[in-house]
Amino acid sequence: MSAVPDGSAPARVSTATLTAVKSAGERIVMITAYDTPGARLADAAGVDAILVGDSLGMTVLGYESTLPVTMDDMVRATAAVSRGTRRALVIADMPFMSYQVSREAALANAGRLLAEAGAHAVKLEGGATVAPLVEAMVASGIPVMGHVGLTPQSVNVFGGYKVQGRDVTGALTLVEDCRALQAAGAFAVVLELVPAELAALVTAELGIPTIGIGAGGGCDGQVQVFHDILGLGEFAPRHAKRYAEVGVAITSAIADYAREVRDGAFPAEGNLTHLDPAVAAELGRAMPRAGRES
Ligand code: KIV
Repeated sequence: MSAVPDGSAPARVSTATLTAVKSAGERIVMITAYDTPGARLADAAGVDAILVGDSLGMTVLGYESTLPVTMDDMVRATAAVSRGTRRALVIADMPFMSYQVSREAALANAGRLLAEAGAHAVKLEGGATVAPLVEAMVASGIPVMGHVGLTPQSVNVFGGYKVQGRDVTGALTLVEDCRALQAAGAFAVVLELVPAELAALVTAELGIPTIGIGAGGGCDGQVQVFHDILGLGEFAPRHAKRYAEVGVAITSAIADYAREVRDGAFPAEGNLTHLDPAVAAELGRAMPRAGRES
């Protein structure tokens, strides 16, 4: 079901595909991306879905949280990701305050992410309290993925990036939030920083897929942040595994470039263009004092 491309024109993954993957007992693969090259690489690797996360604020824009990310940031990044994919479902995050102020603004902002930026679906944070909004979006033709557990836009309410649902009350609230999102028509729900046992219980309870990040292997799928698993960030969270040290490779390549510029090895003969000899001769006559070699 979650096939790696074989060279033929890939069929676009849909929200229904993700439900079918869950029903088949297979796992859904999701990763974040924020630009066209990253999306191309992830799509070529055969991921099922690409999340244009508002983690963009921290991974790409250098902010300390996701809170400063704007709708314009998300529209530009989502459009870039859409241009880089052929197969993966593209899901765009709704940034802080783009859906909390009014239903009208939320629908207009979600609509922009689909109509202007080419996303196939949006994600927003919250459980039962956002369920009526999710219902309105779905009724308007906007597929929605929920996000519960540690919801980074509420970091100031939580008092830090902490595991959620550790006690019975917190766990039951999370279960109710997931049920409300499913009843509202969400096609999937992200479980972030949730104890593995709770995530597995929720996954068994729901008909829609659960996508875990720091929630253990009992979820229907996993999502990871591009920079975390590729070694591009300064800090790697415990729930992420580094599959490559791309940052080290990039720094080393740029250091090679800097050395070759300084010692004159770059640019070499293959990296430059020569003047036609007749043009060079005429220029030499017109600029007799310009004796500098190129
Ligand atoms: O913004 C993001 O990248 C996310 C994932 C961590 C789920 O919301």
